[in-house]
Formats: sequence, C-alpha cells, structure tokens
Amino acid sequence: MSPVDPDLPAEGSPASSPASPASARTSRPGPDGATRRPLVSGNWKMHHDHIEALHTVRDLGLRLRAEDVAKVDVSVHPPFTDIRTVQTLVEGESIPVSLGAQHCNDHDRGAYTGEVSPQMLARLGVRYVIVGHSERRRHFAMTDEAVAATLRAVLRHEMTPILCVGESESERAGGRTEARLSAQLDSALRGLEGAQVARVVVAYEPLWAIGTGNAATAVDAEDACLFVRQTVAGLAGSDAAASLRVQYGGSVNPQNAADLMAEPDVDGLLVGGASLNAAEFLEIVRASRPVTSARRHRPGGQPVRTPAADP
Ligand code: PGA
Repeated sequence: MSPVDPDLPAEGSPASSPASPASARTSRPGPDGATRRPLVSGNWKMHHDHIEALHTVRDLGLRLRAEDVAKVDVSVHPPFTDIRTVQTLVEGESIPVSLGAQHCNDHDRGAYTGEVSPQMLARLGVRYVIVGHSERRRHFAMTDEAVAATLRAVLRHEMTPILCVGESESERAGGRTEARLSAQLDSALRGLEGAQVARVVVAYEPLWAIGTGNAATAVDAEDACLFVRQTVAGLAGSDAAASLRVQYGGSVNPQNAADLMAEPDVDGLLVGGASLNAAEFLEIVRASRPVTSARRHRPGGQPVRTPAADP
C-alpha cells in the first residue's frame, strides 16, 4: 500500500492493481456489471512554481474530507520541478491525493537533454502520467508513435497512463470526430494485452473545448466516451473496455462537473484551469462522487439512455 493514501482502496499500487484494475473498486457500474472508480485529475500545465504548489496542495489537504475521496480517486499533475515538493507534502501529511505527471520520455535514461524518464517519476511515487496531451502533440510535435512508446513506458513502470485523445474543431465540423478518435486509440493501444489496456485511463479532450470556456455538453461527452469504450472493446476485448476509465476534459468547472459525471460512460474529469485553485478543484471532486441511478437523469427529467452493449 502506498504511503501516499493509506486510507484509500488499493488504487494503482504495483502490489495490487495491475492485474485487476477495477474489479475490486466500488462505484460506477459498467455495461456488463464491472465497476469503475471515478478519477478526477488536475492538470496544472505550466502553472504554479514549487512554493505555489506547496500552498495549493496544503490548502486542498485542509479542505478534503474522508468522504470526498471515499469513492473518488484524485490526482494532481504539477510541473516536474514541483513533484518532489508535492510528494513530500502528501506523504508527510497523508493527503489523500495521488501524484501525477504531465508527460515523460519513453526511455529510462540516456542522452535526451531536457527530458524526464518514467523511471525517475516512478521513484518519486508518481502514479498517473498524462500521455499525448494535445498541447504536447501540437506544440512539441509529439507523434502517434511517441505517444504509443510513452504509454508503454509508463505501464512498464507500473504507473497509470492517462491517454489523451480528441478531435479538432475542423475535424468535428467535417464529421471526422470518430475517425480521429479511433485512429488515436488504435495507434496507442493496438498490440497491448487486454489486462494492460484495462489499466489505462483514456481522457477524451476535444481540442475546441480546452481552455476555451466552451465545454462539451454532457450528451456530447457521453457519446464520445461511449465511442471510446466501444473502440477499445474492438481493440482489446469487452472486459478491458468495461474496466477502462474514460475521463472527459475541456473547460470543466464546478458548474458543469456534476452533469458531465452523471453520464454513464464518463468515469472522471481531467481538469486544467479550474484545478489551480484548491477550493474550485474540491468542488469538482465533490460533484464527481458516484450518483445513484435515480440521479442519472438529464435535467428536464429525460432518463439517460442505456449504454450500448460492447460490440
Ligand atoms: P482546461 O484544460 O480545463 O483548462 O480546459 C483541460 C486540459 O487541457 O487538460
């Protein structure tokens, strides 16, 4: 059991989870009865130096109640220079959040100036690593091949990759959303075993929603997350797809989080701007607690549709 979160159900720890990622977890019933524990992740991007990180995580720790994390996993993804500081704080004060990173190289060591290896992150107790965020793909020319290699490197070190996929505005306008998502999933996941894929978290992040204040509607997020799950079922089998956690990301805030999380295939949220402030992030965590079936209704009384069976 990790010293980071002694009170949490075993989640992602090398000793407990790789072979049985979701089977022991509580919460979201999958299409075939599998359960998926929600994961709310704060992607700080290039914000907060290590002093600001200390204040933010301490503030979060003071506000978090045991019931907030009883059925929800929470991760924070600070810049590399903050990780050691945040690790010391969450371990020393038993703050029930998992440590995350925003990226890593796919090699364990070597002449890769400026890069950080997955081995280094694992030694720091990092549990989740964001892989292939659209900003890495766009600004740093991260290719599909590099995304696939990085994802495998993260798995090799028994950390959990958060694989980001999503379409651009023009792809959406041109009706190419599903083609884009399936191409990204295929290139990242093809060839992995079902048990490995079951450990992955996929974040559906439409590019037009990131940092724009223009979040996807809950219905659109559900459609895309369901499509992700069905595509993964085709690649790795329906057991892996039923265990896979699918996050939505893009302009998540305390006002839209509960609606997004009420959707049956949205298993968590990847939060950028709204994760920088502890109070705001906590509101999103609280809005993400699993709902009873009675609450799984759209505003206006329309019940959500039953997710299609895995193909
Ligand atoms: P945002 O970012 O919440 O600020 O839109 C999300 C992300 O890029 O992960």
